[in-house]
Amino acid sequence: MSSPPHPSRPPPPARPVAIAGCGAHVPARVLTNRDLERMVETSHEWIVERTGMRERRIAADHEATSDLALEAARKALQSARLAPADVGMIAVATITPDHPFPNTACLVQSRLGARHAFCVGLEAACSGFLYGLEMARRLVETGAVPNALVIGAEKMSAILDWKDRSTCVLFGDGAGAAVLKPAPAGRRGILSTVLGSDGSLADLLYLPAGGSRRPASAATVAAGEHYLRMRGREVFRHAVTHMAQAARTALHRAGLGIQDIRWVIPHQANLRIIAAIGERLGCPADRFIINVERYGNTSAASIGLALDEAVRDGRIRDGDLVLMVAFGAGFTWGASVLEWIQPT
Ligand code: COA
Repeated sequence: MSSPPHPSRPPPPARPVAIAGCGAHVPARVLTNRDLERMVETSHEWIVERTGMRERRIAADHEATSDLALEAARKALQSARLAPADVGMIAVATITPDHPFPNTACLVQSRLGARHAFCVGLEAACSGFLYGLEMARRLVETGAVPNALVIGAEKMSAILDWKDRSTCVLFGDGAGAAVLKPAPAGRRGILSTVLGSDGSLADLLYLPAGGSRRPASAATVAAGEHYLRMRGREVFRHAVTHMAQAARTALHRAGLGIQDIRWVIPHQANLRIIAAIGERLGCPADRFIINVERYGNTSAASIGLALDEAVRDGRIRDGDLVLMVAFGAGFTWGASVLEWIQPT
């Protein structure tokens, strides 16, 4: 009979885990600020000045979140040279699942043919991609799964009130994905992650009806309660505070300063939020990966989409230290520091 582990015995050394490949997908339809001018009382100038956004992608009626997720997943698996049948776990972070259940990861699994993966849905709004990366990383680190496919995907256009100018101009649809694997010998991969939440502020950004609190009914639909509601100004303030703090903590845990970071990938909610974080961290604007002008806020897809773009266009290179930082409904927030390892 084996003896129980001694309580003071240190845990086995964790093995470093890295992003081994990434992918992204956006729907074809472009919705510009000028298009929005024809839909609500707004202007291209107001939207650019207050948010930095110029256009966003909108999924077709027949396209659901899993369709976007699937395309991003295929590209990520290709770049990580991982066959679908060898995937150990799939996490899909989204607040716009195809259905309340089954979880969207199961739908992606079936179409990928990733029959050995277990599948989990994750709801942390715009922080979902970082939440998914951290939870999957810990499972890969312990050897519970050999690898993981983490996807952030959203069809935000499905939960927007297209008559509410204070929200409908801000969001877009898309998907970003990453494959996690044990890091190659001698490489570090993900160095540190910090995650946090504050549920006491849940009503600043939420979707009132359609869940068990207020099941969908003719009355909730008539009241527009199946659309996202947001108190933008308050959300703005909390987003800046928490993202800056999370970034500092993640850097501290990695034993690094902001000067060591080559690229910051912030959640793409608003160019002014990104600028405010840069100021607080003392990080020049040219070290931020920014695509909010082309995609708007794609919620859980945002960081994966920006990461993939910057890897594919050659800005992020092997050995670069990258800081990812997010904030979203809940509230939820997170930051992660990693050494980029270029897939070969
Ligand atoms: N076009 C024109 N005017 C608009 C508008 C639009 N699309 N949306 C709102 N306005 C108006 C408001 O009605 C308000 O008018 P009023 O002063 O007459 O009442 C005015 O613009 C200013 O509104 P305010 O809310 O103070 O603007 P703001 O500078 O805070 O910018 C947001 C609004 C939503 C862009 C900004 O608060 C924001 O980005 N918040 C965070 C959103 C976010 O990140 N959400 C997701 C979190 S992950």
